[in-house]
Amino acid sequence: MSEQTTAQTYQVGSCAQRIFSAAEKYMRVRKNDVHIPLSYDYALRLLANYPEANAEVAEVAIILHDIGWYSIDEDDIFKKGFQSENFMQSDVRYLHESEGVRLATELLTQLGYTESFIAQVTTIIDGHDTRSFSKSLEDEIVRDADKLWRFDITGISVACDWFKMTPTQYANRLEKDVIPQLHLPESIAMAQVDLVRSKRILQAGAI
Ligand SMILES: [Fe+2]
Ligand SMILES: [Fe+2]
Repeated sequence: MSEQTTAQTYQVGSCAQRIFSAAEKYMRVRKNDVHIPLSYDYALRLLANYPEANAEVAEVAIILHDIGWYSIDEDDIFKKGFQSENFMQSDVRYLHESEGVRLATELLTQLGYTESFIAQVTTIIDGHDTRSFSKSLEDEIVRDADKLWRFDITGISVACDWFKMTPTQYANRLEKDVIPQLHLPESIAMAQVDLVRSKRILQAGAI
């Protein structure tokens, strides 16, 4: 990841620390405390390319999009939500989205956000995994940032266990199945650069 790009081109929103702190207990599930900060950083890098986007909506949505996993038994998360036949359309996938909408609405209301702001955030959270299309530029930034962390060595290391794959098998799946799902050209470029680096360092092909 390029910290330089983030720091030089985009000023981190002051809202972010507050939202991370308020959502802290929801981060301690399913490695959200690694996935979300990494995806947040990718969202900032994408936002640097799109000054016309509503940055606060995108930032809050990426931080809160997966808090719904908190409501689901961790065994079910992996068996039904990652290792089953049709895992992206499994019941727990839909449930983590609807619970995410419910918990995010509660949390943002307590923090004093307006109804219209909350609606913009929850529209993105709703269906973020089970929808095949995006609804706005902010949605595209969130959807891509949600996937981009997996191209980093950390993402491959964490997610390959969720899917019961080796790092090499998972890296190959990213190339074949996940890159085609990305919306923005900057996301595709980042994914390709990160994947080449990750595969080289992880000795993909040899092990
Ligand atoms: Fe999700
Ligand atoms: Fe996610």
